[in-house]
Amino acid sequence: MSKTKRHTLTAALPYTNGPIHIGHLAGVYIPADIYARYLRNKKCDVIFICGSDEHGVAISIKARNEGITPKQVIDKYDKMIRDSFNEFGISFDNYSRTSAKIHHETAQEFFRDLHAKNIFIEKTSDQLYDEEAQQFLADRFVTGTCPICKNIEAYGDQCESCGSSLNTSDLINPKSTLSGSFPIKKRTKHWYLPLNHYEKFIKEWILDGHKKDWKTNVYGQVKSWVENGLQPRAVTRDLDWGIPVPIDNNNGKVLYVWFDAPIGYISSTKEWAKKKGVDWKPYWEDIDTELIHFIGKDNIVFHCIIFPSMLKASDRYILPKNVPANEFLNLEGNKISTSKNWAVWLHEYLVDFPEKQDVLRYVLTANAPESKDNDFTWKDFQARNNNELVAIYGNFINRVVVLTHKYFNGKTPKPNNFTSEDNEVIDSIVCSQNKISDSIERFKFREALKELIALARLGNKYLADREPWKLIKEKPERVCTILYVCLQVSGHLAYLSEPFLPFSSKKLLKMLNLKVADWNNIKGK
Ligand code: MF3
Ligand code: ZN
Repeated sequence: MSKTKRHTLTAALPYTNGPIHIGHLAGVYIPADIYARYLRNKKCDVIFICGSDEHGVAISIKARNEGITPKQVIDKYDKMIRDSFNEFGISFDNYSRTSAKIHHETAQEFFRDLHAKNIFIEKTSDQLYDEEAQQFLADRFVTGTCPICKNIEAYGDQCESCGSSLNTSDLINPKSTLSGSFPIKKRTKHWYLPLNHYEKFIKEWILDGHKKDWKTNVYGQVKSWVENGLQPRAVTRDLDWGIPVPIDNNNGKVLYVWFDAPIGYISSTKEWAKKKGVDWKPYWEDIDTELIHFIGKDNIVFHCIIFPSMLKASDRYILPKNVPANEFLNLEGNKISTSKNWAVWLHEYLVDFPEKQDVLRYVLTANAPESKDNDFTWKDFQARNNNELVAIYGNFINRVVVLTHKYFNGKTPKPNNFTSEDNEVIDSIVCSQNKISDSIERFKFREALKELIALARLGNKYLADREPWKLIKEKPERVCTILYVCLQVSGHLAYLSEPFLPFSSKKLLKMLNLKVADWNNIKGK
């Protein structure tokens, strides 16, 4: 990867209808953060962008349930979410929110541009309407039976059981979640993005172009969507919470949340650039910029088909180079659920385990749902902490520092002759770095972390086998070399662990009197 390359990394904007849990961290924010930190350590030009997703029916429903306004809901959770990300070291360059003025303007401008280019289809059709609540029933305001898998709790926009994306009119026996009544049909006009016009583009770009380098779970979902035929999709809604459609006489219509939210990546970049006094455009318009979207699997269609079609239609933006979506993390065998309160919430974790952010980061990376759904259990959490993080990584560096203080007053000793075993250990540092880099660049963060621990294990074994404490009297010159080698490994562990365990890495660098983790400065001896 060339040093000068520009990277725009985005992490899915979380809905501000609840706090953040371990599933969010494992699926999206930790992998994205590892990647961002890695690129920074390589001195690349990188921005890591996110923000709160504050529109959509989920927010309105939460407000109704809690008897407060949508604005109160988003303010509450935006703050909680920001705090959690800060506490866990998720190193965004900018975290914005879609209620921000700059976002409203950017999203409206995007719509206006596509409208002027005659991209949209305007269509009047029958939509579900709740007579009791006097409101159209968009998205999650209606539930019913999924026409595909027959799940009886499917939402108007998506079936969480089979993952199908739906229109409210697809549901069998639709029911209003507002009043519980059965909706009638009423005519209304909306603007549609004709995804069918973009089928060929998606086919050529992803199905022909990214078979090898995109994850199979992502590629497979795109393939099945395209094979089922892409349909025009409404990008406006009859709702009272959202960004007004920027057209005269819009009749109170707002933009569909999935139209405005991904544009949030662009508005958040603008916000960042403004603060920095730099130009935002190269990060979204220069074809040499690598755009990567980090998301969970329920977001694949939006980031691989809908948003790219919008970007393509606007004809000025780059497309993502990769969309490394993860599968889901379960908790003790059951699906994590905000509404059922089955989750490990980040703010609660820190109450139980103060300052143990890296332990959770470690466990969630080691057990990340990279290629299939995975299970988080407290038993595994404890075992990985005790047997890997503490016993191998922590213990090794600790022993090395203690011995260095004991024998050499805390100064790095000058090495003497290197034996072949010494050389082997030194060589494996560079080799490890290459493997870790390679794994990270392929979005295989579990593999990368394994390699890091393997290096610590090697150092540990080297120290235990050499037994310097038995040599200190008779062969002090040999002990110099042994501890020198161990310190080299420790220092590099401190560097190499920075993307994964930023808090521990910082402490280690300080203990070892090293400066920032610079990955271009790793060269063994
Ligand atoms: N809020 C959505 C979710 O939690 C993700 C939005 S990602 C964006 O599933 F691209 F729209 F920003
Ligand atoms: Zn279904």
